[in-house]
Amino acid sequence: MTTYKICLLPGDGIGPEIIAEGVKVLDAIGQRFDIEFEYTEELIGGIAIDETGCALPEATLKTAKDSDAVLLAAVGGYKWDTTDPTKPRPEQGLLGIRKELGLYTNLRPVQIFDALSGASTLKPEIIDGVDLMIVRELTGGLYFGARERFYDEAGAGMNGAIGQRAYDTLEYREYEIERIARQAFEAARKRRGRVHSVDKANVLETSRLWREIVHRVHDADYPDIELEDILVDNCAMQLINRPADFDVLVTENMFGDILSDEAAQISGSLGMLASASLGDGTALYEPSHGSAPDIAGQGIANPLAQILSVEMMLRYSFDMQDAADSIRSAIIRVLDEGWRTGDIADASTPKDRIVGTERMGNLIVANL
Ligand code: IPM
Ligand code: MG
Repeated sequence: MTTYKICLLPGDGIGPEIIAEGVKVLDAIGQRFDIEFEYTEELIGGIAIDETGCALPEATLKTAKDSDAVLLAAVGGYKWDTTDPTKPRPEQGLLGIRKELGLYTNLRPVQIFDALSGASTLKPEIIDGVDLMIVRELTGGLYFGARERFYDEAGAGMNGAIGQRAYDTLEYREYEIERIARQAFEAARKRRGRVHSVDKANVLETSRLWREIVHRVHDADYPDIELEDILVDNCAMQLINRPADFDVLVTENMFGDILSDEAAQISGSLGMLASASLGDGTALYEPSHGSAPDIAGQGIANPLAQILSVEMMLRYSFDMQDAADSIRSAIIRVLDEGWRTGDIADASTPKDRIVGTERMGNLIVANL
């Protein structure tokens, strides 16, 4: 029997609640497909800061590197929110593990589940047929550039002659753009063969480099793919104007962060958006949403983005397409039967069909 080692990182907020449902699904898949998933749970984020003083402890990184895949839930919470640059932040755990595992490709698929077409704030005819993939560069750009906060006279503000200044740096290297462009074109080849490259080339030098390199890779190796440049502000608008026209969107780290939250809303809820972070080694799978501290511990969080992350793990790390398909079909069946967590319920949802986190997980397992 094949055994896969999975590193579990529940993190903060609703993290422990939703990851439990992901594991339940993985176990059920293991039984049906005769695979053993062996779990090691580690600390990351706020809970890791509380217990070890560091958002990404050495032990976590080691287990992650020694595993066949990492399943992460979410990090962050009010308790650790600070603007003090000397204090540790939960997000450093997430950014640290992305960087240390070399996870430069972040895939965020946005699909419409027919049963949820009423959950979107957009009109049904606008979201009809939406099936897009955001390919977000994940280990470069503003998130990882040089940054500093310091005092000087030029920065003087309302507190006196000496004021604070701060900067972040947006930097990209040719090879970083090349490899993410390749990932986008490869993804498009397995889809509808269209790529929108999102940038701000009318203003930013990094974007002009981005555009040049994306086209060079395209012309050399992917002339069969339809490539279009789009400015990020226009893209934000077109995403809610004609979302069904997009296939693959490739973009730098920060633009991808913002656009993926926007794109999630097309599908009705951020609670439905999974992601896969891939590099050259162990891959990591996580929901695109955060730790939702406002509803943590109440058992009402939507576990579907976590379960869809498990689906992506089976596809990308273990090439178990049938198992992945069975998860997707189970989710579709459960939604078609009318079951909803609070975030995807609407006025027409009967009260007795609104379920909590655990019940939703059980329903998916029962329908596998
Ligand atoms: C995401 C999240 C993270 C990001 C945060 C939690 C650091 O918003 O995965 O989209 O900005 O990348
Ligand atoms: Mg985000």
